[in-house]
Amino acid sequence: MLQFQTLVWIIISSFSFVISAEKDFYRAAVLELAQFTNISYPAADILRINLEVYEIAAKTAAKHGADIIVFPESGLLPFEKPNRDWMLSFIEDIPDPKKEVVNPCEQESQFRDLPILRRLSCLARNNHIWVVQIR
Ligand SMILES: *[C@@H]1O[C@H](CO)[C@@H](O)[C@H](O)[C@H]1NC(C)=O
Repeated sequence: MLQFQTLVWIIISSFSFVISAEKDFYRAAVLELAQFTNISYPAADILRINLEVYEIAAKTAAKHGADIIVFPESGLLPFEKPNRDWMLSFIEDIPDPKKEVVNPCEQESQFRDLPILRRLSCLARNNHIWVVQIR
């Protein structure tokens, strides 16, 4: 079992905005976290551990009625990267929604090699929540 300390602060807040005819507000959740950053671990492990925290946060937010969750910038990977090549394993092409309709969660074979996109897609789909991920 990996030992790590992850501090997760989930701030569930309600904001009132008019977004649909069904209800006149939506509930937003914002995740603040000290992500797992120990670069002596394989890069894939760092990503997996942080994505697991994201999943817990999304489930918790959905349970509290959140419609949307906003994840922090660079929340999946350490701010300080060991080198440029290290980052190459995390580069994922995101399909242009103006050119094609895709669902990375449901199209497993097509998106098998894009773990970030696929897991965030499944996280949104499985929890019925909108996801905002910057970078
Ligand atoms: C990173 O992980 C290694 C291996 O588990 C451990 O020896 C080291 O102390 C960790 N570094 C930090 C900064 O936590």
